[in-house]
Amino acid sequence: MKPIEIHPSLLAADFSDLRGAMKMAEAAGADAIHCDVMDGHYVPNISFGAPIIKAIKKHTGLPLRTHLMIEHPELYVDDFVNAGSYEVTVHAEACIHLNRVVNLIKSKGVQAGVSLNPSTPLCMIKHVLKDIDVLLLMSVNPGFGGQSFIPETVAKIREAAEMRAAAGADFSIAVDGGVDLKTAPLVAEAGAEQLIVGTASFGAPDMTEAVKNIRAAAEDARK
Ligand code: DX5
Ligand code: ZN
Repeated sequence: MKPIEIHPSLLAADFSDLRGAMKMAEAAGADAIHCDVMDGHYVPNISFGAPIIKAIKKHTGLPLRTHLMIEHPELYVDDFVNAGSYEVTVHAEACIHLNRVVNLIKSKGVQAGVSLNPSTPLCMIKHVLKDIDVLLLMSVNPGFGGQSFIPETVAKIREAAEMRAAAGADFSIAVDGGVDLKTAPLVAEAGAEQLIVGTASFGAPDMTEAVKNIRAAAEDARK
């Protein structure tokens, strides 16, 4: 069984003090930083791009996992790899040639992730199961932090874990959106290993306490 990992989402950090945010995340015991890139087309919001990732890379040793919520992600893979991403995740819905994009990411020597929106069925990734490092299941409609967890995601995680086992694949299952102390046990029990946590981590009064409690709740649910 893969260990539970907590990935705070940069979207919920104080953008006026990203260096401080990196310190906070490290002190809290985060396993990676989740970087939400939005272009205002694929999702109805604009966040930040590769220069911000390059800037925070100087201030943290944590792996930077880049979640591209953008159209034509294949055009920007180089930029995000050069900025210091440890992983680049693209949305299956944004890739006409998903196999090609996944292989492009891997050819740059970083981990390749594929994300699916809540309404996108798992069959979209059926033929890349053995090629991907991470399957990022959205548990909210992407675009904004602080939204409510969509409960149907739990069954989808379970189904993804079954698909993975049946195919003999080894990707990690990540879940993104509305993950907090209440929903973390549900997603961990269903088979998710990487918990993306924005509002409930950077937005918590005590981030260290929040990360510790969410991790413990997730780990307990798997016992
Ligand atoms: C949503 C982003 C998420 C978001 C999660 O579009 O992909 O990563 O930051 O934030 P919370 O945890 O607040 O739902
Ligand atoms: Zn995200």
